[in-house]
Amino acid sequence: MHTPPAWPPIDPDRANPAGPVLVVGGAGYIGSHTVRLLEQRKVPVVVLDNLSTGHREAVRVPFEHCELSDRAAIAKVLAKHQPCAVVHFAAKCYVGESVTDPAKYYRENVIHTFHLLEEMRAAGIQDLVFSSSCATYGEPTKLPLTEEHTQLPISPYGKTKLHMEHMLADYARAYGLRFAALRYFNAAGASQAGDLGEDHDPETHLIPLVLQVALGQRKEIAIFGDDYPTPDGTCIRDYVHVEDLARAHLAALVRLQEGRAPILCNLGTGTGFSVKQVIQTARKVTGHPIPVRIEPRRPGDPPELYSGGTLAYDLLGWKPRRAGIEEIVRDAWNFLSKHREGYAH
Ligand code: UFG
Repeated sequence: MHTPPAWPPIDPDRANPAGPVLVVGGAGYIGSHTVRLLEQRKVPVVVLDNLSTGHREAVRVPFEHCELSDRAAIAKVLAKHQPCAVVHFAAKCYVGESVTDPAKYYRENVIHTFHLLEEMRAAGIQDLVFSSSCATYGEPTKLPLTEEHTQLPISPYGKTKLHMEHMLADYARAYGLRFAALRYFNAAGASQAGDLGEDHDPETHLIPLVLQVALGQRKEIAIFGDDYPTPDGTCIRDYVHVEDLARAHLAALVRLQEGRAPILCNLGTGTGFSVKQVIQTARKVTGHPIPVRIEPRRPGDPPELYSGGTLAYDLLGWKPRRAGIEEIVRDAWNFLSKHREGYAH
């Protein structure tokens, strides 16, 4: 049984880490929301991104276009901006693609993270917040998924995230790295202001795809399997608002700067929604009928994934504030209605 640490309380809504903070992958979906929150809290922040999937339009703070394959370039950015902490979002994150092209995942996730860690070590930067994933657990043997669940990832994507967690733990022991590994469940939603949101190419995530049907950009939404052992036969996931995820990163930075590490915890809401429930919510929010087509199961999809326990609260004072699926879908719809073709338009 987990015993909460005797750390003083922390409020993610007031967490104000010292800067400058370097956000690697800060032009991406979760990264850009975290950068915006740092900006709002007046924390000096710099983004490093190669824009392979991120969007320059999502960033209005100092920006460095940089490849993580290029260690000299990373070193230059660190020397120029002298960050006191790094938040590392940059990674490939498609489970299906990781099965067909694992080399890309080992290179871009594991090797590039090694480059970043080595350059941080050379520059004497100790604090790192890292995007991990519930995919590190693999097929749940027990629900809800707590941090005590064994980590036996089934996809190369999940394996690379676990390798990275292990690297961080080894660097912590040997070189004094202080790290937080935050295991996200399904990131979803968009900024309340409607200026930041999810824009992937190709899009594979359920909520934006469903909303693209409502916009008339797709004819129907494919449901990958309606014969799962769940109440309505479709997969259940824990959708967590991207702005809630961002709040957790600021709290984690403060904890690291207090010298409290390592931090390994889930970021989920504790409540799961089925694919059909998400589609039904989108019908309500958009007023569109959203036709569906039943397709075979997608390989590697566990029937149910949702988070449990209170570790994120115990360590970071973090609870999701925007845990309703309707609010998540509404914010995503607001962004997409304003950016029908993504950021570029
Ligand atoms: N789904 C459909 N139709 C679609 C797209 C998705 O039915 O067109 C279903 C999926 O089968 C799944 C659910 O909707 O049951 C959610 O799928 P997403 O692709 O939106 O998200 P995943 O659960 O596959 O992926 C998320 C994160 C990954 C992470 C993974 C862990 O995006 O980064 O959870 O399982 F690795």
